[in-house]
Amino acid sequence: METERMKDCANPEQENFLQPESGALLEESEQLKKARVYEKENRAEEACRPKFHLIAPVGWINDPNGFSEYRGRMHLFEQYYPYDNKWGPMHWGHHSSDDLVVWTEEGCAMAPDSPFDIDGCFSGTAIETDQGHLLIYTGVSHQDNKEVQNQCLAIGDGHNYRKYRNNPVIAGDMLPEGFSRKDFRDPKIFRANGKYYVIAGSKDEKGLGQTVLFSSDNLRDWKYEKVFAHSEGFGKMWECPDFFELDGQGMLVVSPQYLSASRDYEFHNGHNSVLFPGEIDWQTMDFAPEQPVQLDYGFDFYAPQTAEKTDGRRIMIGWLQSWDTKVVPDEHPWSGMMSFPRELSYENGHLKQRPVRELENYRSHPVEIRHLHLEGRKELPQLAGRFSDLIIRFEKCEFSRFTLEFAAGRNYGMTFTWNRYDGMIEFDRTFAGHTHDVTDLRKAKEPEGGIHTIRLIQDLNSAEIFVNDGEMVFSSALFTDPACDQVILDVQGSAVLDIEKYAIEVPDQAAE
Ligand code: FRU
Repeated sequence: METERMKDCANPEQENFLQPESGALLEESEQLKKARVYEKENRAEEACRPKFHLIAPVGWINDPNGFSEYRGRMHLFEQYYPYDNKWGPMHWGHHSSDDLVVWTEEGCAMAPDSPFDIDGCFSGTAIETDQGHLLIYTGVSHQDNKEVQNQCLAIGDGHNYRKYRNNPVIAGDMLPEGFSRKDFRDPKIFRANGKYYVIAGSKDEKGLGQTVLFSSDNLRDWKYEKVFAHSEGFGKMWECPDFFELDGQGMLVVSPQYLSASRDYEFHNGHNSVLFPGEIDWQTMDFAPEQPVQLDYGFDFYAPQTAEKTDGRRIMIGWLQSWDTKVVPDEHPWSGMMSFPRELSYENGHLKQRPVRELENYRSHPVEIRHLHLEGRKELPQLAGRFSDLIIRFEKCEFSRFTLEFAAGRNYGMTFTWNRYDGMIEFDRTFAGHTHDVTDLRKAKEPEGGIHTIRLIQDLNSAEIFVNDGEMVFSSALFTDPACDQVILDVQGSAVLDIEKYAIEVPDQAAE
């Protein structure tokens, strides 16, 4: 398979139709200028910002968009509404980074300002081409008083982006008769077979979710190929598809809406993000998905995207929030974070997700506790902190229940509990200090063979727990008072533990 970052020599028919000289690009609009001024003048104060999780300069973000490497630098765009801490007409925010830890604010990249996207620039992806950094996204507009979604192009140099004048390039009327024109969004672009392919979320004539495949030799003229994968009733609309190869295996990532929880606790009610491993035939582009698996067993992880780095690593980022459960305080100046980026690998038929190794360059104040023998409940003040990387290894497990409590103090504390008597994990944020009636408990089955390591990464408003070196991940947003920073371990029985803890120190997210 050709990779996302391969050069365009495999695309002889590509023309330079997206160069500024061609007159095919639109000028920067008043709406975009306004957003760029607004976000600078109203930037949320440093004191209320996480240090190494990407947030908006101000206002709302949801899905990660356009996650890609361009000219050696990582870029991430976001579904963005600068003017409120709630979802509104969608813009694209933009950040870039050398190491996926420290992000530079590049300024709003697109505003909903053109007839083809006047109701919103919805999610999409990016790819490096000879013509520049190409964005493909969903333009939302109205036709005959009905909402329609079509796929549009923009191009940029890593800082500034211009839309293609003749958008959309993939219109909903290219779909087979009966497929939804309203639910047709979130294009993922990649290269294979000397062509470009796009897969997008769609609904069939019965309203069931699916992904559809398009191809193009030149980025301008697109052809409908086929249904790439069908939900078969697993969720409703399939949002934000991604497709890639990982360690020799095809990987389809989608975010199905409105699932009902499964009795094995693999999937929770509402919107989930899942992975279908499967066989891909690169000649025919036939994909045979296997059983889906959950990507994150916590509360907040949605619409993830992956990018391949030049060093070969496949990195995934998701939105660390969810549509249905709101824990952000009502008056907060920003809403929505990105997850910490995860390196993916596929080992013995299991997906592994590890925090990108670059985080380790920002560790300070190491604490090591070797062979800690523990019975009952114990506060460990040397592990306190809300910007930290904490690793607990189990040397001996002679207990029926083990609880890690963090962001604790006064009446507060979030808990991660491993119940060995029934083989279940419980992740509980009842006492995380929010004031909305939202989901506060998630359960999941323990991994086969139990737990040998827990790694908790905290960054003020987030907690991400990696079990067994990335075999399972539990993510949550939290807005507990920053003064609640204690760590308490509680063992029913006895345990011997090896503990490492670091503070994470990162310079402020810099605006260029
Ligand atoms: C997923 C999603 C996408 C859409 C975007 C709109 O969270 O609903 O399908 O493009 O958000 O902001």
